[in-house]
Amino acid sequence: MKYNKINNKLFIKNRKDFINELASNSIAFFNSNDIYPISADSTLPFEQHRDIFYLSGIDQEESILVISNNKNYDYKEMLFIRETNDHIVHWEGEKLTKKEATEVSGINTVHWLGEFDRFLDELIKNHDNIYINTNEHYRQNVETETREDRFIKKLKKIGGINFKKSNPILQKQRSIKDPIEIELIKKACEITKKGFERVLSFVKPGIWEYEIEAEFSHEFLRNKSKRFAYNPIIASGINSNYLHYIKNNKQCQSGEIILMDVGAEYANYSSDMTRTIPVNGRFTTRQKTIYQAVLNVKKIATELLRPGVLWKDFHIEVGNIMTSELLKIGLLNKVDIQNQTKKKPAYKKYFSHGTSHHMGLDTHDYCDLDIPFEKNMVLTVEPGIYIMEEGFGIRLEDDVVINENGSPTNLMANIPIEIEEIEESMN
Ligand code: GLY
Ligand code: MN
Ligand code: MN
Repeated sequence: MKYNKINNKLFIKNRKDFINELASNSIAFFNSNDIYPISADSTLPFEQHRDIFYLSGIDQEESILVISNNKNYDYKEMLFIRETNDHIVHWEGEKLTKKEATEVSGINTVHWLGEFDRFLDELIKNHDNIYINTNEHYRQNVETETREDRFIKKLKKIGGINFKKSNPILQKQRSIKDPIEIELIKKACEITKKGFERVLSFVKPGIWEYEIEAEFSHEFLRNKSKRFAYNPIIASGINSNYLHYIKNNKQCQSGEIILMDVGAEYANYSSDMTRTIPVNGRFTTRQKTIYQAVLNVKKIATELLRPGVLWKDFHIEVGNIMTSELLKIGLLNKVDIQNQTKKKPAYKKYFSHGTSHHMGLDTHDYCDLDIPFEKNMVLTVEPGIYIMEEGFGIRLEDDVVINENGSPTNLMANIPIEIEEIEESMN
């Protein structure tokens, strides 16, 4: 792991909060992700399942976390980890020892994974409900069978079990961040800032989008981020209109803008930033007009992120703000407004995506969209205006923490965003 050790107070507290939500006499299981194959003996880099990480800090493949609230049960929390040996150490390096697993997680009962099946029957017998961890995210669209899915299949074959779902509990719990988590997200944002500053002095006409990607990557790795938190978008000229452009293989020309939607991960926590800059260091008058409109919307939208506000109402309000900016700059007119419907507001022609999503261990993090915003939720604010006819789009994105009172805290407040700041840094 490249990141510094995390205080295990976090994982102990996360488990305690989770247990409080379980029905009486229940047990929950959480599995590591698989290491995904490519072909032959190649694999993708390991990425831990965020739920087992959130509840234990264990960042290693082939691990199982068991949590029980049975009052008479000796071991309320158990970890099963991959047994290491000289052969594995020789080829793969050190794996977690039992003692290290306890230090990381705060869990005292640690067994080798090979012993798991020996415990399973008894664990099931002694509990009335078994909590399994299905993927219930509102955007989930997964064809792959995960390690967790295989584990659930195995349990379902046993029969006679009363199943419940862990995920709805975690969706709510994970959306409100602990101060330790906010520090980790902040750290990811700081690394992203370093990458952006490096890029500001690097960009000039003739540079290729992948060269910019490489600059970010260099700065991320040397600051203990293992990689981008999501596929980076380095989109110059017309590409800035393509919301999920990730080819990053075009040469950047003078007069174009570059939209960069890039974030470092740190300790599995995401940051999610978008900045749009001019290739030659100076925005054209038209680019400035659109840029300022996006920035205005972003500033007002940020102020709306307060406790008690509903995600749905927030988006309606930001739509109104965007509409008024689009009218001001002449992209919409009165007729467009007269013809718009609730289902198809006029602003959607230029701004078709959402303004905010929760952020944390997943870039599009867990949340229950029906519960009002609360203190310590972390969200992005990311309005954009995309004009196909004019060959460019502008998006600006920061990550903020909702406060009990007043404006949210912008974790990216110190990353240049004003037009003058950007131009000054580039020249
Ligand atoms: N980078 C993904 C997003 O902004 O939602
Ligand atoms: Mn983004
Ligand atoms: Mn985002």
